[in-house]
Amino acid sequence: MKQDAKKIYLRTFGCQMNEYDTELVRSILTKEDYTIVNDETEADIVLLNTCSVRENAHRKVFGNVHSVRHKRNGNPVMIGILGCMASGLREDLLNDRHLNIDFIAGPDSYKRLPKLIEECYKTNTNSHSRGVSQYAPISKPFDVTLSEFETYSDIYPARDAGVNAWVAVMRGCNNFCTFCVVPYTRGRERSRSPENILEEVKHLVADGFKQVTLLGQNVNSYNYDGTDFADLIKAVATVEGIKRARFTSPHPKDFPEKLLDVMANDHRICQHIHLPLQAGNDRILNLMNRTYSQEEFLKLTGQIRTKCPEVALTTDIIIGFPSETDEEFEDTFRVMEQVEFDSAFIFKYSQRKGTIAARKYPDDIPEEKKTERIVRLNELQRSITLKKNQAHIGEIQEVLVESKSATGDSENHFGRSDGHKTVILAPGNYSIGDLIQVTITGASPNDLKGKMVELLK
Ligand code: 5AD
Ligand code: SF4
Repeated sequence: MKQDAKKIYLRTFGCQMNEYDTELVRSILTKEDYTIVNDETEADIVLLNTCSVRENAHRKVFGNVHSVRHKRNGNPVMIGILGCMASGLREDLLNDRHLNIDFIAGPDSYKRLPKLIEECYKTNTNSHSRGVSQYAPISKPFDVTLSEFETYSDIYPARDAGVNAWVAVMRGCNNFCTFCVVPYTRGRERSRSPENILEEVKHLVADGFKQVTLLGQNVNSYNYDGTDFADLIKAVATVEGIKRARFTSPHPKDFPEKLLDVMANDHRICQHIHLPLQAGNDRILNLMNRTYSQEEFLKLTGQIRTKCPEVALTTDIIIGFPSETDEEFEDTFRVMEQVEFDSAFIFKYSQRKGTIAARKYPDDIPEEKKTERIVRLNELQRSITLKKNQAHIGEIQEVLVESKSATGDSENHFGRSDGHKTVILAPGNYSIGDLIQVTITGASPNDLKGKMVELLK
């Protein structure tokens, strides 16, 4: 570590794509004169990699900027905002004198970070500790340009050692679901070349990773010179040393049958599909621009379960989309009852600035109504998850041992089943990174319990 290297602290909010981007940023900055520190109070520069998909993430970042400053007790620190909030809320952030952010970089501008930081030091915009005149013009470094090409394929992300590595295979989204900011904050879809992805995966094996999760805002749209997502994951799973391959997330409108065939025929590809339903009512699906109907969604889940009977299905749901009636909400309830997802992330609709829904539809479902609906769906899902988890008791399942258990019991470890369920493991003759066969001995709505039977190759 260079003596005079500037210390950077990075905090990530939101989705796995952001986690991945933080790893890219670490890689970009450590190649220059920067070191990454784990204690934010030691840092010269704090970077917040933000998310603007749902409101509470947004509020959290505002709270965080204040908390970073508070912990410094008036000592200067440079604060940069990265990620989706950077591109979506550039004006608001840069002009907010109270927040007094130093610079901003959007998701396609991370290669310019060293330059932006340098500019900040040069222009000494890091002025919050001196106080800024309320009337002084604000001119701060920023780059929120969205690229049609940037995939960071020339950068190997700086990951912490572990069992699972995320690999972004595509960036951006062209779907324009009316509630979603992602097409605006992350720009158009673009895919990385398969050769480049496979090179990264081989590198990951050499670094000790056992599982790869392929990541994209909409993985079914992956296409590089005729190589589609099914071809890609098949090739990834065949890389020597990879024990498992996963992916997230596909869009129900164009889920390829070919991918199901690949999943059914290769045991290294996990039997788990995260398939966001969002709503179960056709009028609401239409207003959301999801471009499938309830019937088409049900047909797809039926087809998935016929081809891959062991598959675990999980989903995302939004309740309280503008104008959603009680009866329309009941459709979502009924679809969830019928499909019996293994688990679901259920969100209250939150109006996002700049989206089609924000422009066209008033956010007219009262908060109490949203709460009532989310409580009902969470209760339903909790009972389904418990029932599905209990059905696994007595089964033998393959589990990849991921880490020591978080329960504080140092003897216990936890791992993930093929269907991505957390399995708390009784002590046994296994190590982190092993793929083992386990008898499922217990179940709760949150996890399974298991005992090792055999170590797998
Ligand atoms: N309000 C609530 N939930 C949203 N999501 C995306 N945008 C919004 C919004 N405006 C949810 C969707 C998506 C998940 C990542 O976040 O369910 O699948
Ligand atoms: Fe957002 Fe829809 Fe794209 Fe997903 S598919 S990122 S919900 S616009």
